[in-house]
Amino acid sequence: MDAFIIKGGRSLKGTVRVHGSKNASLPLMAAALLTDSPLTLHDVPDLSDIRNMTRLLGTLGCEIDLKDSDPGRPVTIHATDPSQTAAPYDIVKTMRAGICVLGPLLTKRGKARVSMPGGCAIGDRPVDLHLRGLRALGAEITLDAGDIVATAPGKDHRLIGAHVFLGGPSGSTVLGTANVLSAAVLAKGQTIIESAACEPEIEDLADLLTKMGARIQGAGSPRLIIDGVDELSGADHRVIPDRIEAGTYVAAAAITRSRITLENFPTDALGAAIDRFSAVGVQVTPAGNGEPFDRHRGSVTIRTADTLKPIQVFTQPHPGFPTDIQAQLMSLLCLADGNSTITEKIFPDRFLHVAELLRMGADLTRNGPSVVVSGVRELIGAPVMASDLRASAGLVLAGLAAKGTTTINRVYHLDRGYERMELTLQALGADIQRVKQDSV
Ligand code: UD1
Repeated sequence: MDAFIIKGGRSLKGTVRVHGSKNASLPLMAAALLTDSPLTLHDVPDLSDIRNMTRLLGTLGCEIDLKDSDPGRPVTIHATDPSQTAAPYDIVKTMRAGICVLGPLLTKRGKARVSMPGGCAIGDRPVDLHLRGLRALGAEITLDAGDIVATAPGKDHRLIGAHVFLGGPSGSTVLGTANVLSAAVLAKGQTIIESAACEPEIEDLADLLTKMGARIQGAGSPRLIIDGVDELSGADHRVIPDRIEAGTYVAAAAITRSRITLENFPTDALGAAIDRFSAVGVQVTPAGNGEPFDRHRGSVTIRTADTLKPIQVFTQPHPGFPTDIQAQLMSLLCLADGNSTITEKIFPDRFLHVAELLRMGADLTRNGPSVVVSGVRELIGAPVMASDLRASAGLVLAGLAAKGTTTINRVYHLDRGYERMELTLQALGADIQRVKQDSV
């Protein structure tokens, strides 16, 4: 296992190109199961979650061709052996997003056996809404030895369009919407999904499915109308930029009071985050020389005021402030001039970083789903560890700003979601090294 050693206090300078989105790529890759033709995706990031999804698709009869050295790393996925319908526990347990093969397998191959994903460090993470949606389309679903066993109805084993409501206690479900949408595109008749997730990753999935021949209206809104078709073709598609990686590097620039440029920056997908950063004193502005600004993939400059202002923030489903940037924002607010409040409305226990930030001299008081962040003058380097991807990112940011040395243990969590983060930060001038854990 690797660790990062960060000597804090350096300011950053330079340009970073935001990678393609991990959370968009995973359901897009699973969509290859919906067609007998090859599907080519560009800008899929090189991350351990993506490698696990590649492995999973391999066990499900897909041939995968990755052109690592070509720009945009095109990956072509061709489902050539439709007889495989079981997604095994040893892969799904490494990555909850393995669940997104369920809808495509069931609708295309008529049956699926997918290991039930367990909880994880940020909470219980049930899949009841996924199953409710697929049952509404006629699937028979049972649980057997920890696996979800699903069969499409009738002699033709084909799902049937229906009216489906996907709202839960915390709003909609992102991967649940991906599953039901991917299933509905090949169902008989019309499906209407109410309370669908509006996240940009779902819009990207709808875009790809439409290129493959699906008939979908309302992508990006809470009401999706899908008219099922008999078959889908292959397609060629570029993945949207990763809004969470982008938001993380905005916070990295802000916490070190640096001016950096971010290319391939998804401004429109980050409205709520840009609003909150701006209230703190962080400006995100177009970096071009007067040419029209691309709000989906443009270049922006990040500048930060000398004094950070305290703010109130609630995480919410899109277009609200993303839970996946909550930990990074908390690290930034630790250095604000006053008291901020962060309330987690999606994963109320997603505060693994709190105890670690306290070790670095932060002043934090947790009260149920809220944390009061009282700004301190400085953070102090310490050995820390967090068992979740975004909490670890928050700790890296704290380490960049802290006085002295911070050691982030178990960075395999970071490797699930950030492509070679230490190289990106080194290129910006940070003092950060990856070392083998045994040598720490
Ligand atoms: C996705 C993202 C994750 C992000 C999360 C919320 C991927 C690979 N992961 O996860 O990074 O933090 O969206 O934006 O895209 N829920 C239920 N029943 C269900 C499903 C979910 O009650 O069947 C609840 C969850 O416990 C949570 C809320 O709904 O409170 C949202 O979860 P969901 O949108 O499903 O998260 P994921 O899609 O798993």
